Amino acid sequence: MMQKDNGVDFMRMEDIRELDRACFMNTFGERTPVAFDRGEGMYLYTTEDEKYLDMFAGIAVNSLGYNHGEFTKVIQEQAGKLLHTSSLYYIESQALLAKKLVDISCADRIYFANSGAEANEGAIKLAKIYFYKKGIEKYEVISLKSSFHGRTLATVAATGQEKYQKPYYPLIPGFKQVEINDIEALKAAVTDKTCAILLEPVQGESGVHPVDDAYIKEVRRICDEKEIILIFDEIQTGIGRCGKMFCYETMGVEPDIFTLAKALGNGIPIGAVCAKQFVADAFQPGDHGGTFGGNPLATRAGLCVLDIMEKENLPQNAEKMGGYIENEIMAKCTDKVKQIRRKGLMIGIEMYEPAADMRKKLFEKKILVGAVGNTLRVLPPLIIGKDEADEFIKAFCELAMSN
Ligand SMILES: Cc1ncc(COP(=O)(O)O)c(C=O)c1O
Repeated sequence: MMQKDNGVDFMRMEDIRELDRACFMNTFGERTPVAFDRGEGMYLYTTEDEKYLDMFAGIAVNSLGYNHGEFTKVIQEQAGKLLHTSSLYYIESQALLAKKLVDISCADRIYFANSGAEANEGAIKLAKIYFYKKGIEKYEVISLKSSFHGRTLATVAATGQEKYQKPYYPLIPGFKQVEINDIEALKAAVTDKTCAILLEPVQGESGVHPVDDAYIKEVRRICDEKEIILIFDEIQTGIGRCGKMFCYETMGVEPDIFTLAKALGNGIPIGAVCAKQFVADAFQPGDHGGTFGGNPLATRAGLCVLDIMEKENLPQNAEKMGGYIENEIMAKCTDKVKQIRRKGLMIGIEMYEPAADMRKKLFEKKILVGAVGNTLRVLPPLIIGKDEADEFIKAFCELAMSN
């Protein structure tokens, strides 16, 4: 332990890294060499008080930024009252959050989980049990190549990336993937056993790839015609990130089921399966469950997040600031950018070279972003203002132009 001038104990990054190497399972490899201790608004501070501008929001989780006054107060208050009871008993905030989500979305019923993968598991189970209860033999799930749906065995089987699947062969049967925005490939994959089509409205992890409006309308039509459940994975796109509370609202189609996680809890783990009545009815007592899902802390957090999102017009801010960042970058350093793909504040800046280099240089300038292939992933908290956006744009364009 080291001590700051004010007497506060802290661990140096190197010491934390050493402990991590000795005791933590090595699933993350070499991490970005920094350990954060606290946050304020758009900024994170290390154990050694260095300040970083966060343009990645803990992978699209911290949409209210850090230490948001009202959110912090609500969490503190709830922590002092009650954290967990289990769903053996009724929970006020669980019922209220379910009602709130029903009121503001196309869903009629909600189930709460603890993570994105677990929410997707619930959605896949719901689609399967819907046909099982009808006595119809449909169990296949079609998802998209380059998708990401989580790390559990069913969601790995749905994730269209071999690197995540290969170590776990044989995968759960019944899953197949087709190219994004290729309607003929999708039609060819549909069989009389297809129970669900699962997709992200904008693929996040593989570098911000939106589905086309015409494609998604045709997918909806096929699902209606063939009695297939359409599931949107809105774990990254949902809760304001794409300019509306839910991304499907920007697309002119409604899913039968959609899933949420990440920003719904602003850092408190929570996931949600949101479904239309006809399919939700398939879950009956004993069909699905979990110990923690929808506990008092997580659902109080979710309620508070939605309230603040609405009061502070954060979905609108996402569209406004996303447009601003895109326009400024295209005006200031367009030659260095191959393409910007964007919906709200889900931004992919495709470069002409591996984006990991740019991510590293931005990190040296104390700005956090993500990178995959040649695409820089920019997912700031939705509270971002012009000053912080300008700080990022200036640093990005200076680095890009000096290349
Ligand atoms: C679209 C999408 N689905 C599912 C997941 C998995 O969520 P979790 O990591 O909370 O299990 C992620 C996580 O990045 C995601 O981006």
